[in-house]
Amino acid sequence: MTARPHLVVFTGSGISAESGIKTFRASDGLWEDYPIEDVATPRAWQRNPQQVLDFYNQRREQIRRAKPNAAHKALAALEQDGFDVSIITQNIDDLHERAGSHHVLHLHGEILKARSSVDEHMRYPLPKGGIALGDVCDKGSQLRPDVVWFGEAVPLFAEACELVSKADFLLVVGTSLAVMPAASLLSYIDVETPCALVDPEADMLSPPGVLAINATAGEGVPALANRWKQQGHLRLS
Ligand code: APR
Repeated sequence: MTARPHLVVFTGSGISAESGIKTFRASDGLWEDYPIEDVATPRAWQRNPQQVLDFYNQRREQIRRAKPNAAHKALAALEQDGFDVSIITQNIDDLHERAGSHHVLHLHGEILKARSSVDEHMRYPLPKGGIALGDVCDKGSQLRPDVVWFGEAVPLFAEACELVSKADFLLVVGTSLAVMPAASLLSYIDVETPCALVDPEADMLSPPGVLAINATAGEGVPALANRWKQQGHLRLS
């Protein structure tokens, strides 16, 4: 029996843009309205936890209202079509899971979970509502969003590198590749492994050796998935 081809997908906020969730660095992106240093660093949390909680509580509500788009769905469907699909996402939304993907690694955490501010292993699902000041973990410390802030370690990075190194194809979708260490994942693929970036700005962003596919996620990803499904393998040539 031949092994199922292994597609590893590395996604950024661009894959959720067509679901109505803002990206970060566009001229109308999230970081324009909410400076990183006010809402997404350990210092911001120390200085003004209410402001940080408000920011993530609002984003959580937006994400709950959003729906997976054609790109999330096409990746999930590939699992039924004979491919192993591992998704490494920088996104804190749950749209890959809601589309039906079974193997999703959240490099930057998950907004639908809270965690203890003294013990990162103490996590709590947030099926509804948000986090308020005074909501505490089982050790009595304030709960915070289970997201990785700027200046914090990325605990799942080594696991993500391992996945990338085993890929038969690395598909990158909707990321400006501006944030480390996430963006450095691309350097962990085997030299023989093909890699493509689907992004409206792909020709400007693609590092050497990465095929640039200038398209939105909702157009580019289903087109690739259809092609792979018909071929039964992941090559593009
Ligand atoms: N389809 C695909 N890509 C799109 C679409 C779309 N419809 N719309 C925009 N994009 C692309 C943009 O061209 C850009 O390259 O999405 C990318 C978004 O880039 P950023 O705003 O920098 O977001 P991202 O790369 O996901 O940021 C990485 O930075 O702030 C942190 O933790 C945050 O996980 C995030 C990380």
